[in-house]
This record gives sequence, structure tokens and C-alpha cells, in this order.
Amino acid sequence: MSSNNESIGKTLTVVVSLCLVCAIIVSFASVQLRPLQQANKTKDIQSNILSAAGISKVDDVFETFNTNIEARVVDMSTGEFVDTDPSTFDFEKSKYDAALSYSLKEKGIEDIAGIQRATTQAPVYISKKQDGSTDTIILPIQGYGLWGIMYGFLALESDGETVKSINFYKHNETPGLGGEIQNPQWTAKWEGKELPIQIVKGTAGSDEHKIDGLSGATLTSNGVEYAVDFWTGEHGFGPFLAKVREGALN
Ligand SMILES: Cc1cc2nc3c(=O)[nH]c(=O)nc-3n(C[C@H](O)[C@H](O)[C@H](O)COP(=O)(O)O)c2cc1C
Repeated sequence: MSSNNESIGKTLTVVVSLCLVCAIIVSFASVQLRPLQQANKTKDIQSNILSAAGISKVDDVFETFNTNIEARVVDMSTGEFVDTDPSTFDFEKSKYDAALSYSLKEKGIEDIAGIQRATTQAPVYISKKQDGSTDTIILPIQGYGLWGIMYGFLALESDGETVKSINFYKHNETPGLGGEIQNPQWTAKWEGKELPIQIVKGTAGSDEHKIDGLSGATLTSNGVEYAVDFWTGEHGFGPFLAKVREGALN
């Protein structure tokens, strides 16, 4: 015969109480850890921007970023800086913000990067030389690979034409195939190349516009080429880069 403690009512009370306590602990931890998660995300992005600018092995990411990088937000259609706060501008999420974005399809713009929506503003990051002149212009880019959107940074020399570096900090490509977009041996091939970039199957040789494709990952390679094309083109940072080429940042 079951004792009182084994009654269905008591068992249910224990189960429900346990669920409630766990739910409260998880919610509390999630709320408490949110600022820490956001700080870590910002640190990660800043460290990628520093690395794109050629500043690596950094002890204090936040301080080095603030000392070396000028972050601004650009109006994509005019190429002019706007007053939007770059520190709170989320490049990944802004295309889902109706006030900041538009549907490429609805505007009849070819969606070469497979991103569906583009933004009317985006952040740019500028690293300076000792004498205060522009050293590197770092542009956030995103484009569809084989499995999802790849997010990264394209760094250009102050001429707005020559590639200094490219890096991807978030993607879903297959390790060993498309995932090789993060391989330093491949990204090193970008240094010194000139826009527009074409990623070719096999070996690009010394052509200043061509980069070797990733073997077994043509779809990802195409995705990278289209992402760079879109973000350096007229619906991306094209108008801003046109001003840079005229010497606006010097
Ligand atoms: C499990 C699996 C994962 C793959 N992952 C990728 C990938 O991340 N990127 C990519 O471009 N191709 C990937 N592929 C290969 C593509 O399906 C396609 O064959 C390839 O992009 C063609 O490139 P290639 O012409 O250089 O061989 C994958 C294939 C398989 C079976």
C-alpha cells in the first residue's frame, strides 16, 4: 500500500515545484548573463575588426579598438557619414529593422549576395596612421554561402581599391570545404588584390583581380565573390568608396 508521500498529488506538487524552481533559475541566469553575452559579442567583433586592420595579438581589445579605430555609420545611397551611433549599430540585425532596411526584390535589385534585404545605413571602421591619415577602411560584409549567411569584414587600403584583408567571423560552411574561407593561407591570397574581385576555379596566378577558388567549395567561393561584389557595389558601400577614391578621408 502506498504511503501519503507517494500520492499522485504530492508527486505532482514536487514535479511542478521543481520545474518552477528550474525555470526561475534559468530565466534569472539568462537575464543576468545577457549584458555579459553582449559584451563578449562586441569584443569578438572588435577583435575581428582589429585583425582586419592588421592589428593582432591584442591584450585589451576594447582599449586598442577605441585608440586605433574610428567607427562611423554611412548612408548607403549618398556615401556620407550620418549621426547614427556606430556602437549600437548591429550590422547583422539591421536588415530586419524595417526603418533601416528594404527588400531587394521589391526594389527590383538583383540579390547577388542572397541576403534578401539590404540596409540604408551601415557601419564602417577606419584605422589611422600615426600622422592621422587613413590607413585601412574596414567594411562589414555578408552573403549566402552554401549553408547560410557568412558574415565578415573586408579591409581596403586608403585608396578604396586595394584589398588589405578579408576575414569571416560567422558562417555555417562545411569545415574543410567552404569552412576554408577562414583558412589564413587562403585569406592571405587576398592581400594586394584590386577590386573588383573574381574568385576563379583553380589557380588565379598573378592577376590583380583574381583569387584562387576553394577546391571542392565552388558554391562558397561564389558566395564570397558575390558578397564582396554586393557590398562594394552601388547598393552597398559603392557611393562611400567613390568618395574615398576622391580623397574624402585624407
Ligand atoms: C556533405 C557536403 C558538404 C559540402 N559542403 C560544401 C561547402 O561548405 N561549400 C561548398 O561550396 N561546397 C560544399 N559541398 C560541395 C558542393 O555540393 C559542390 O559539389 C561544390 O561546391 C562544387 O565545388 P567544386 O566544383 O570545386 O568541386 C559539400 C558537399 C557535401 C556532400
